[in-house]
Amino acid sequence: MVQKVRKAVFPAAGMGTRFLPATKANPKEMLTVVDKPLIQHVVDEARAGGIEHFIFVTGRNKGVIEDHFDRQIELEKTLKERGRQAELDMLTASLPGPGQTSFTRQQEPLGLGHAVWCARDLVGDEPFALLLPDVLVQGNGTGCLAQLQEEYERTGGNVVAVEEVPDDATHHYGIVDIERGAGASHPIRGMVEKPAPGTAPSNLILMGRYLLQPEIFGILEDQQSGAGGEIQITDAMISLLASQKFTAVEYEGKSFDCGSKIGFLTANIAFALEREELREALLEEIGKLT
Ligand code: UTP
Repeated sequence: MVQKVRKAVFPAAGMGTRFLPATKANPKEMLTVVDKPLIQHVVDEARAGGIEHFIFVTGRNKGVIEDHFDRQIELEKTLKERGRQAELDMLTASLPGPGQTSFTRQQEPLGLGHAVWCARDLVGDEPFALLLPDVLVQGNGTGCLAQLQEEYERTGGNVVAVEEVPDDATHHYGIVDIERGAGASHPIRGMVEKPAPGTAPSNLILMGRYLLQPEIFGILEDQQSGAGGEIQITDAMISLLASQKFTAVEYEGKSFDCGSKIGFLTANIAFALEREELREALLEEIGKLT
């Protein structure tokens, strides 16, 4: 029996440079896709994937994330007095319970790997999920993390979600080298962060969902900065691959990189089109624009 993955880490201490000025005082992770902040979409996906404790790595100007995952007693009281039961139910259904959230600060945005390392004491000595809060997944109902959990229960070790991109886009991402077998999960032979154009071992990218063993923290402790001068989680995973198994899952679904403007705008349209009450009116309005 593998040890259950109960905790998830959400690194949210980046600068959101690509979204300035929107992210000057407001965290990128609080930008809204349809009617929910990005980070709440991702917390919902984690909960659907069996996560019981939610660990947020934040930084300066990110305090509103902590408020978002707290109760708003005055608002709840007013909604109740006004008989707005549907809104009240919606607010409470998506809220982690007392003691199910933890917050720590990265202090300096030294890279994703460093942000994850900042959560080491809160995670402790157990496997954990890592979800990038600026990547949304639209998919097959249960979500991407639930699919990773299914694979993890079968194989244990470290499990990562991968997705195909066009060959000329591989240099933007962490790429996996796999032993392709039948089905959607494949043993990983190697990984590389942002390979030079034309040198990627495959077109399968690490898209932002991981189940990792706690030994990654020991490696991150001494991890030097890599691509872009940042401490990269991919570099630490490459070291861990020497002693532990990694499995890539080509999950069912599609990701949106909401850290980029095109990804964010497309996600807003795609998620709105999924909503019955918005779909027809939105299509009509888009039709008028083109
Ligand atoms: P990104 O690279 O997409 O976020 O990291 P960023 O650095 O905020 O973006 P730009 O390039 O400046 O526009 C993916 C996730 O990792 C977090 C970010 O907050 C984001 O949610 N992150 C990144 C950290 O927590 N710390 C870091 O040092 C870097």
